[in-house]
Amino acid sequence: MSVFKKIMMAGAAAAMTLTASAAIAKEFRIGLITPPPHIWTKAAGAFAKELEEKSGGKHTVKVFPSRQLGNEAQMLQQMQTGALDMAFMTVAEVSNRVPNMGAFYAPYLAKDIAHAAKILRSDTAKKMLNELPRKAGVIGLGYGSAGLRQIVSRDPVENAGSLKGKKIRITPFEPIKDFYNLLGTAPTPMPLPAVYDALANGQVDAIDMDLELIWKLKYTEHAKTLVLSNHMMFPMVGIVSAKVWKDLSKEDREMIGSLMAKHVDSTIDSFVAGEAKFLEEVKKTDATVQVVDPDFFGTVTDQWNAIWSKRAPSLKDLREEAKK
Ligand code: BEZ
Repeated sequence: MSVFKKIMMAGAAAAMTLTASAAIAKEFRIGLITPPPHIWTKAAGAFAKELEEKSGGKHTVKVFPSRQLGNEAQMLQQMQTGALDMAFMTVAEVSNRVPNMGAFYAPYLAKDIAHAAKILRSDTAKKMLNELPRKAGVIGLGYGSAGLRQIVSRDPVENAGSLKGKKIRITPFEPIKDFYNLLGTAPTPMPLPAVYDALANGQVDAIDMDLELIWKLKYTEHAKTLVLSNHMMFPMVGIVSAKVWKDLSKEDREMIGSLMAKHVDSTIDSFVAGEAKFLEEVKKTDATVQVVDPDFFGTVTDQWNAIWSKRAPSLKDLREEAKK
């Protein structure tokens, strides 16, 4: 066989392989810790539906809510080995691997929910995703949100002093632990599904939570004081395993990347539109709503900033972004 013919045959074989790989159908799995009615889980369902439609049925995505695949730390580990394809995950968990992401939790970085949306949609925030492949083994495709954080307490709260020594449930991650330690409380890391019972049986005195879940998961049944503080953002990130990503065709990466970014972003709109309604719903219960401003936390915000400006270099950039 002539050299020319050999090259042509090799080329044809390579082209066939490429066509075959471009046509490989995938059954993706996406994991979340949130329960089925949660805004994130609904967005994951909408992403799955649209990916199946846009790929002409080639790709499917099975959604696993409520920690069915493990907690977020376990899911992140599975994504590093390629055992799990995708997740909508708290930035909180990612910040345990990528401390720079802790910058998002600067107290009062965002002055309200609309401001938080602008910060999350900024180029500064997007640039911070570039670290994820190297430090966490995942590709970050865009941000979502779970609103702003509040405190729900079993006992009345007159001022920050009322919280001193109190056990306050936190999501397990460092920036929030520092915040509540600086406040003189006893931060108690606890995953979401354990929170209702812990509050009901007095295992914790108060919880750090967002308004949607305070309403939907009925925390005020056992803790009658809502301290409406809006003290922190609570972003989410749409991620794909870097191992899975590298084997996808360019077309699939573009399709999955843009669809995932679109659907995680939709959660930001849901919280901007929903936050006032969530509060109205909580007000319909017998809970007392106490509105507080940044002064409530005294010097804690400044102390937090001093610690985290060293750990999270992007804090400076996010602050600049927030001023715009
Ligand atoms: C939480 O740990 O408080 C939480 C986690 C995911 C979504 C919303 C809240």
